[in-house]
Amino acid sequence: MSDYNNKTAIITGGGSGIGRQTALSLARKGANVTIADISEEAGEESVRLIEELGRNAIFVKTDVSNVEDVKAYVKKTKETFGSIDMFFNNAGIEGKVTSLADYPEDIFEKVVDINLKGAFYGLKYVIQEMLQNGGGAIVNTASNAALDGSPGVSPYSATKHSIVGLTKTAAGEYASQNIRVNAIAPGPTATNMMDRFTQGSEEVADQVKSGIPANRYGTPEEVANFVTFLLGSDVNFTNGAVYPIDGGITSV
Ligand SMILES: NC(=O)c1ccc[n+]([C@@H]2O[C@H](COP(=O)([O-])OP(=O)(O)OC[C@H]3O[C@@H](n4cnc5c(N)ncnc54)[C@H](O)[C@@H]3O)[C@@H](O)[C@H]2O)c1
Repeated sequence: MSDYNNKTAIITGGGSGIGRQTALSLARKGANVTIADISEEAGEESVRLIEELGRNAIFVKTDVSNVEDVKAYVKKTKETFGSIDMFFNNAGIEGKVTSLADYPEDIFEKVVDINLKGAFYGLKYVIQEMLQNGGGAIVNTASNAALDGSPGVSPYSATKHSIVGLTKTAAGEYASQNIRVNAIAPGPTATNMMDRFTQGSEEVADQVKSGIPANRYGTPEEVANFVTFLLGSDVNFTNGAVYPIDGGITSV
């Protein structure tokens, strides 16, 4: 059985949704957790929930698109817990919903800065640390928008496709040094992101669900369970893969 006890995980976007549930899942198994999130209130609340479980967590206020913030969450984690064994490179934004020819350039750049550059900076500085530490496990958050076109969210789809490229490349570069890099491709999942995407409309939500064979959203806990599994040592030969968690979307 994978042993997470006293191992350390960094989770970007750990203040909400998929990131928070993964933080709680790892903490329940005994891991120390660093929550790196742009929202102080949300991040501190995740820390409080972990401490309520009797586990250790710290919050590092982070904008993942700022490389100095990324270096800071790596440094603070090492100083506090001594090592970085697991990394959930998860923070992301959806941007605006509008067709490509009308897409505002400044929002396009913001989505690229957070979803692509933020993920790259995280990989770069965490891998440097893991190399010193004898290895580690990384999961990057892509999306089912990484596997197909997604009308209305071109930069989101493009940046999530780029996560697949980063994942496979990093996996190949570092497999021999005991670092595994996989990605998840969740379908619509019941988090704040999905609420923003549907703007609270039941009708739009039903439309989205009608495109999912399971006819419902996934829960952040269901995604967290799989990420926890991928970060564990039971699956040490799993590397460079992209796993849909989508109620069957990719099957049709
Ligand atoms: N919810 C879905 O349907 C779905 C589907 C596929 C993939 N995803 C991906 O899952 C990941 C998590 O999304 P979620 O659904 O939990 O959304 P969420 O909005 O509930 O959580 C995202 C978290 O990221 C943080 N964040 C945003 N910008 C940041 C930045 N610049 N630096 C650091 N933190 C930042 C937010 O404060 C928030 O806590 C994202 O990468 C998203 O693209 C979500």
